[in-house]
Amino acid sequence: MAHFTVTFQPGGIQVAVPAGTTLLQAQIQAGLRPDAPCGGRGSCGKCRVLLRDGREVLACQTPVERDETVFLGQAHQAQILTGAQQAADFRPDGAGRYVLAFDVGTTTLAAYLLSGETGAQLAEASCLNPQSQYGADVISRIQMAMDGGGETLRRCVLDALARLTEEAAGKADISAGDITAAAVVGNTAMHHLLLGIDPIPLITPPYMPKVFQAMEVPGAELLPIRGVLRVLPNIAGFVGGDTVGCMTATRFDRLEELTLLIDIGTNGEMVLGDRRRRIACSTAAGPAFEGARISCGMRGASGAVDHAACEGGDISYHVIGGGKAEGLCGSGLLDLTAALLEAGRIDETGRLEGGAYRLCPGVTLTQKDVREVQLAKGAIRAGIELLAKAMGARVEDIRTVYLAGAFGNYLTPASACRIGMIPPALEARILPIGNAAGEGAKLCAASREEFAYSQRLAGSTEFLELATLPDFQEQFLEALGFSEVV
Ligand code: FES
Repeated sequence: MAHFTVTFQPGGIQVAVPAGTTLLQAQIQAGLRPDAPCGGRGSCGKCRVLLRDGREVLACQTPVERDETVFLGQAHQAQILTGAQQAADFRPDGAGRYVLAFDVGTTTLAAYLLSGETGAQLAEASCLNPQSQYGADVISRIQMAMDGGGETLRRCVLDALARLTEEAAGKADISAGDITAAAVVGNTAMHHLLLGIDPIPLITPPYMPKVFQAMEVPGAELLPIRGVLRVLPNIAGFVGGDTVGCMTATRFDRLEELTLLIDIGTNGEMVLGDRRRRIACSTAAGPAFEGARISCGMRGASGAVDHAACEGGDISYHVIGGGKAEGLCGSGLLDLTAALLEAGRIDETGRLEGGAYRLCPGVTLTQKDVREVQLAKGAIRAGIELLAKAMGARVEDIRTVYLAGAFGNYLTPASACRIGMIPPALEARILPIGNAAGEGAKLCAASREEFAYSQRLAGSTEFLELATLPDFQEQFLEALGFSEVV
């Protein structure tokens, strides 16, 4: 079969591929880790590249038929949230000198190196999850695993975690082999793919994980470390160890007042409760707030509009890095929707005046984008209402709303309430808590007792399957509009 050489610019990286290989596959083969939110199905438009002859094409839909030079967009420096508050009562067990915690997110990976004696953080390293080149959301990854690509997905994330391990160790001037315990949190799909567990049960009724229990595996089987790797347990099909990590870090079963924990990523997981009772659910919030399925959507990286506001009828905005605006990240999308509601350009049904709003050259919000926002915020709001109902409480009884994760950290609480994603009555009670899932992993890496605590938390949390509730549909439809706030 004929082979052709593809040269990627800037950088001049070359790769030889068989005729018919797509440009996206060529980029993956060249180790460039392209962004492919729809997994190469041709529907997201995010893999656009420029060819030597001036044509702009979708890399995933363009086969290589000759030697080709491809111009890639500027690499965006992604913002990866790694900080969080450490629990005041945390005491490492001192069993190892150095311990490592991993947060395996659908979009990003983070590693934290800690002193096993004091719990102090010595170094951290993070990167985008290289599985993103096969699709932005967990469903496309699970589908790839179903098509025989599970080992490819597993390998690429393990390789990335090994690199982060070496990087964190290097920053602290130790050898990775000095690390004697580690812990990992991730959503259920990341958990199953990482451990080589069949993820198909996650997307087939009754949508439950194949493995719930916490695990301790020999770290050296997966990573360049010694000692044990602790894997936090799962609660349900889409409520995984990352949620358990957040609950561990916030001491959720010791809270006196009714508290809502929300972690919005490519899915939306929530827990409502206090020391008496805890109920978790997951909502199909979709990856809208991560930039997927939004015409000008992008991750929170340089060039992304991350904030917008309506001032005297005019819309002002802020761009990460201060340069030219290239797209909207989740917090920018939320703010812009709220600002357009404020300006009267979006009505209570979600109809956008004129069908589109051009924020600036290259960044336009479309009617379809507003519909995506409505679906995502409607799912989250319905989840909050139904959790409160299951708890026998009113939404107004919730005293604190913890927002975990990157989106929760950067979003403007007033905008989240303005669009009705979070009940407006709770606006003053919203508290961003940073990367609490990663914090939970740190506690479990440094203490066997914390790991046991995380298992007790998972075991004592009920799960509410929203889709099977008789009033779910009605609640969801009610939550789609903006009538509450227009
Ligand atoms: S359109 Fe090519 S990856 Fe989505």
